[in-house]
Formats: sequence, C-alpha cells, structure tokens
Amino acid sequence: MDTWNSLHDANVFFSVLRSMRRGNLTMRHVGIIGVGRLGGALLKSLSDGSENRVCFIDRDIGLARQRSNEIKFASFESNLEDLAKKSCIIFLAVKPKDVQSTLEELGIYLRSEHLLISVCAGISSKQLREWSGNRCEVLRVMPNIACLVQRGILAVANDSNLSGERLKEVLEILSVMGNCYEIPEKLFDSFTALCASGPAFVFKFFESVEWAAEKIGFDARLSKQLSRSLLDSSSALSSNEWGTWKALIDQIATKGGCTEAGLHSLEADALSTIVERCFILTRDKSVDLGRVDKQS
Ligand SMILES: NC(=O)c1ccc[n+]([C@@H]2O[C@H](COP(=O)([O-])OP(=O)(O)OC[C@H]3O[C@@H](n4cnc5c(N)ncnc54)[C@H](OP(=O)(O)O)[C@@H]3O)[C@@H](O)[C@H]2O)c1
Repeated sequence: MDTWNSLHDANVFFSVLRSMRRGNLTMRHVGIIGVGRLGGALLKSLSDGSENRVCFIDRDIGLARQRSNEIKFASFESNLEDLAKKSCIIFLAVKPKDVQSTLEELGIYLRSEHLLISVCAGISSKQLREWSGNRCEVLRVMPNIACLVQRGILAVANDSNLSGERLKEVLEILSVMGNCYEIPEKLFDSFTALCASGPAFVFKFFESVEWAAEKIGFDARLSKQLSRSLLDSSSALSSNEWGTWKALIDQIATKGGCTEAGLHSLEADALSTIVERCFILTRDKSVDLGRVDKQS
C-alpha cells in the first residue's frame, strides 16, 4: 500500500512537472498553506475555476474539515510534503509570526520548479527566500479579502526576478480574484495599509454611520439597512465619470446647504489627518511584522 502511495505521489508530481514544462495553462496545480480568513478566500476563489487543481493544508484540523466540506473540488492534505508534491504553485497564507517555522519545514520539499507565493504582511522576499532555503522562485502578492467575491485589489511585486512567462501565468491566476497592480516591493507595507487593511477601515466608518443613524432617529433595523444602502449607492456613483472626489462631492453639496454644514464639521474634526494617521500606523505595524526579533 505504501509503495502504491509513493508511486501515485511520484506520478502526480511528474505529471505536474510535465504540464508545467509544456506551458499547459488549462490545469494548474496549486497548493495553499493556511486556509483561515484570507487563505479561505484564496481557496474559494482559486477552486471556482476549473483551470486549477487545488489542494490545501491547515494545522487547525477543524477548520480544514470545514473548508473541505465547503469546497468540494479541493483536496485536503495532511502534511507539507504531500502538498509540495501535488503543487507547482504554493500560496503561503499563515500569520507573519508562523512564516519562518512553516518555510523551514516546507523548504526541504521544494524544488526549483515550484513557485512560492506569499500573501503575508511584512515578510520580505529576501526573508522568504532565506527561510525556504533558496530552493525555488518566490513572489510577494498582497491581496485583500474581497478576492472572495472576485472584487479584490491585489499587488504583485514587480521587482521580483520572475521570468516574463511565469509572471504572466501568475497574473492570469490572480486576475480571477480582482484587479492586480504591479508595484515595487518597497511599497508593499503602504499597499497593505491602504488596500489589504483598507476594507476594515471602510467598514469601521460605516459601523459609525449605522450607530449615528440611530442617534438621529432611525430604529436599529432601518439604521443597518440604510447604512448598507448608503455604501452601495455611493460606491456605484463613485465609478461614474465625474472624476475627482471633489467633483463627486460638488454634485451633492450646494453652497450654504445642509451637506456643506456636515462637510465643514468633518473638516473641523480633521478627518484627513485621522485617516492619514490610521494609514501610517497600519503601514508601520506591517513593517514591524517583518522584524523577526519582535515576533511573539
Ligand atoms: N485577513 C486579511 O484580510 C488579509 C489580507 C491580506 C493579507 N493577509 C495575510 O494573510 C496571512 C493570513 O492571514 P489570516 O487573516 O487569513 O490569518 P488566519 O485567519 O489566522 O489564518 C491562518 C491559518 O494558517 C494556519 N497555519 C499556521 N501555520 C501553519 C502551518 N505551518 N501549516 C498549516 N497551517 C498553518 C493557522 O492555524 P492556527 O490558527 O492553528 O495557527 C490558521 O488557520 C497573514 O500573513 C496576513 O498578513 C491577510
């Protein structure tokens, strides 16, 4: 039985390699390490298309079983060796504090044909390469969680040394999750603050909107509905052709009117400064996460 398993695994691995060498883009073998909040979104998104054969692993067995039930076409692996054998492209989606130990364990199973893609905040390509033993190419990608609904914003480090063909393949895979931007790695911590953490800040703002709606007279149910509708309708309008945010605001605020009164209040409370401080602190925390000596 063990021999059969080994032969089977070897067959899978070599068929994976053959399909890669042929540049066969119709079936990609993708592995995901960590299927928590973001890894779970990647799993769903990558399994939706028939072009990927996806396997995954998570040390939280309960969560892994749950994902297995949710996503029928992805296989759950019990160890990193099997995951590495069955994948060409491996996404790493564990918390920054777990990256080093995970890569040190994974490293021995990596071959030059693998591509390791990290979505982990703060951890540089240099650290990824070192911790995985320099055995394969690595790429940093920073998605946001909206890739769950194919509306993500993703950054890809454009200063990696990936060949044009491989980068093209990666962009093709990522494009199902949303809009991809190629940016220098030095901007990754800023991108993390703006676009990966960003949805949480937008939701925080709308949580305040819901709370304030109750304060000005609506009941809880209607406050919830109206705050969501407000986000929806404003975001639909923002993709219109009016251009700048100011031009959009000018469509609503008339001189001396009620909207202007509200805007003055936001300016007096220094909204821009609050937002700037939030992004700076978030960016700096991302930088901090990459400092191994500070990881708990
Ligand atoms: N959440 C987001 O919106 C978002 C956006 C952009 C980037 N990211 C990045 O994505 C990464 C994951 O974030 P998350 O929010 O998805 O975290 P999460 O919900 O905690 O998921 C991480 C999962 O990985 C598991 N894990 C840890 N080490 C493992 C190993 N060696 N083998 C298998 N599984 C392992 C964890 O298990 P345990 O719980 O047992 O530790 C957990 O289930 C982070 O580095 C973060 O910076 C997240």
